Amino acid sequence: MTRPVTGSAPIIAVDGPAAAGKGTLSKRLAEALELPHLDTGLLYRAVGRLMINAGLDPASTSGESIARSLSLADLQRTDLRTPDVDAAASLVARDNAVRQALVDMQRLFARENGAVLDGRDIGTVIFPDADVKLFITASPYARAVRRYIQNGGSDDAPDRDQLVRTVEVALIARDHADSTRASAPLRMADDAVKIETDTLTADEVLAHSLRIVRDALKAKNVNLPSASVQDLCS
Ligand code: CDP
Repeated sequence: MTRPVTGSAPIIAVDGPAAAGKGTLSKRLAEALELPHLDTGLLYRAVGRLMINAGLDPASTSGESIARSLSLADLQRTDLRTPDVDAAASLVARDNAVRQALVDMQRLFARENGAVLDGRDIGTVIFPDADVKLFITASPYARAVRRYIQNGGSDDAPDRDQLVRTVEVALIARDHADSTRASAPLRMADDAVKIETDTLTADEVLAHSLRIVRDALKAKNVNLPSASVQDLCS
């Protein structure tokens, strides 16, 4: 993975724990910067979904062959965000053979035009030389509330607190599995910028991130395909 930095299209790595807002931020960053976006969680989710549908148990069977034949079209499926797939993806993601099978796909995605990629190991394993690395995080409670609302939960529901607590417990379990696995565990790259989003709106996180991107790219003399990131930050 040798890529000339100066003048080439930028690679922006966005990592962090579940439901921290990486997806929303990455999508909006990519739009603002006119870069392609890859939500790498969908790769593990798609392998998990295909295994479930084939009657394979991700706890005891490797998804390597499924991962090897995965295509970007598989990421368009509409059944990748169900609780059974949450759990399956986390198990699939522990499998080093699966992770290896998905490395090239992620690197090829960004090779031509640069990209914003979000996941757990983008800044540490997939693109250790990324031009900008962001680590997006928030407290487990704040993340659980976001995921609850994202999944259609209502703040007025009588059992809202209990339902949020259930989501929080599942998130904490997944964070633990993601951070303690042997292969590419979730951790912040030494040179990443950490953004705590508990008290920030999505717009504030985007504005803050754009400033970080602008400054980092300017310092490295990396070109952006979009007209001017300077304007986006003003
Ligand atoms: O959206 P959410 O944060 O809940 O999860 P996701 O980003 O879609 O990722 C689903 C699962 O895939 C995570 O729990 C991780 O176990 C795994 N994953 C990973 O190991 N490496 C990545 N680059 C992205 C996701």
